[in-house]
Order: sequence, then C-alpha cells, then structure tokens
Amino acid sequence: MYNLKGKVALVTGSSRGIGKAIALKLADNGVNIVVNHLRNKTKAHETEKEIKEKGVDCLVVKGNVREEEGVKNIFKTIKETFNRVDIIVSNAASGVLKPVLELKKKHWDWTMDINARALIDIVQQAVPLMHKGGKIIAVSSLGAIRAIPNYTAVGSSKAALESLVRHIAFELAPRGIIANIVSAGAVDTEALKHFPNREEILNNAKELSPVGKLVTPEDIANVVLFLASNLSNMIIGQTIIVDGGYSIRG
Ligand SMILES: NC(=O)c1ccc[n+]([C@@H]2O[C@H](COP(=O)([O-])OP(=O)(O)OC[C@H]3O[C@@H](n4cnc5c(N)ncnc54)[C@H](OP(=O)(O)O)[C@@H]3O)[C@@H](O)[C@H]2O)c1
Repeated sequence: MYNLKGKVALVTGSSRGIGKAIALKLADNGVNIVVNHLRNKTKAHETEKEIKEKGVDCLVVKGNVREEEGVKNIFKTIKETFNRVDIIVSNAASGVLKPVLELKKKHWDWTMDINARALIDIVQQAVPLMHKGGKIIAVSSLGAIRAIPNYTAVGSSKAALESLVRHIAFELAPRGIIANIVSAGAVDTEALKHFPNREEILNNAKELSPVGKLVTPEDIANVVLFLASNLSNMIIGQTIIVDGGYSIRG
C-alpha cells in the first residue's frame, strides 16, 4: 500500500525513542535504514539487529548532526553504501531546559544548532543524493506553538525548525522533493527523564487528552510512514500534530 520497498531512509537519532520507532516502521514497509546516533553504540546496534530481522539493509552511522563535518561524514557513508537516499527523517534533538532568565548564549546556540540549523546541513548534503519523489520529514513538538516551563530554548528551536521546513518545502517542491513536519505531544521516552516535572507533563498529557491516553512512539511513526509515502504527495510544508487531541482543548 505504501509502496516504499527498496527505498533508503536516514533517520537521525534512531537508536532509541521515537526515532527508533520510525526506523522500525519504515523497515516494516521494506525501507533500508540508516540508523544515526551520537553516543550509545549498544542501543544503536540493538536497533540495527531488530531492523535487519525485518529483511532490509541497515547501516549504523555514528555522527553528531550539530557538526557540519558530522553531517558530511554521515552522507559520505550513505553515498558509499547506497549512493542514494529517498527519505530523510530529521528526528535527533537535544536542548538545555531552563527558564528564560537563566538562559545563556551557549545554551541557546547548542539547542538551535542541533534542533534547527542541523537540518540545513542535512538537506544540503541529502539533495544531491535524492531523486524526484524524495521526502523530508522533521520531528517537532507542541512546544513550538505553546509555552511550557523551562522549554524556552527547545520550543524556540522547534518553531525555527517548522519555519525552516516550510522554506525547504517551498524551495524543493519544484524538484519533486516534499518536506513536512510531524509535531508530537508528550511521549514517554528517555528524553523526558531530563525534565524535572516529567510526571506532571505525562499526567497532564493523559488527563487533558480527549482520548485519555498518551501518544506512543508508534503513533508518531505511523504518520511519518504516511508522509514518507506517495499517499501524502499533496501535503507540502505542513505541520501534522499528533497529540491525541491535547492541544484542541478549550
Ligand atoms: N519525547 C517527547 O515527549 C517528545 C515530544 C515532542 C517531540 N519530540 C521530539 O521527538 C524527537 C525524538 O525524541 P525522543 O524523545 O525519542 O528522544 P530521545 O529518546 O532522547 O532519543 C534521542 C536520539 O537522538 C540521538 N541524538 C541526540 N543528539 C544527537 C546529535 N547531536 N546527533 C545525532 N544524534 C543525536 C540519540 O543518540 P544517542 O543515544 O546515541 O545519544 C538518540 O538516538 C525529537 O526531535 C524530540 O524533540 C519528543
């Protein structure tokens, strides 16, 4: 149905969490996967094993998307191995959680570089390897459009990311490359362990959702799969919110 067999996808930050769920979902649909990660080699290779068990190729590439050289190396390896890339999922993220009165330039730069600017390097490296029908999907968060305590820099970086994707979408659509954003509500991954108010975030997300449950990594992966396929070809530069209805509450 999705017709993705044999395609090649780079999913940044796919050794664990939402990125891993996206990588597995694409692999379920016949896509060969490039698993990118930064530090945790064991988790990356566990993910590689699970992907290969699905009968597709998988390449693990350690690389920091914050560094231009890191991104270049990821694509050098992709070029040498596959000589093409069809789907880019920009999912890796990081960030300093502080209120605005405590934010320093280094916190801002760190967060913006990884969560927003990295996609410029990724797209510049990816486009020469992409054909008509290529898909670029960035993973954002509700914090791009809402105020969340301590989320100052990350929320701002996600807002920048969403704007960047709209510009990428507009520029690349004439080449047949389509870019969109999936924006997630709270998902219980390791990332949330860095939040001092983790329990409160998860309880709120559950209680304020009209379906009374949390969004799972697989919920996000399902939408990425749709956006990666030709079924979504006339959705261009949009942000699809996957939050179980949390943000529509009046
Ligand atoms: N969890 C949520 O509630 C939530 C909500 C909305 C949106 N999101 C978004 O969903 C995406 C995934 O979040 P998650 O919760 O799954 O995160 P996570 O569990 O913390 O996983 C982060 C992944 O990114 C990799 N990574 C971190 N920094 C990197 C860098 N500089 N270069 C390359 N890889 C890097 C990590 O690799 P290593 O393990 O090797 O370090 C890991 O694979 C992010 O864009 C996040 O903002 C999450």
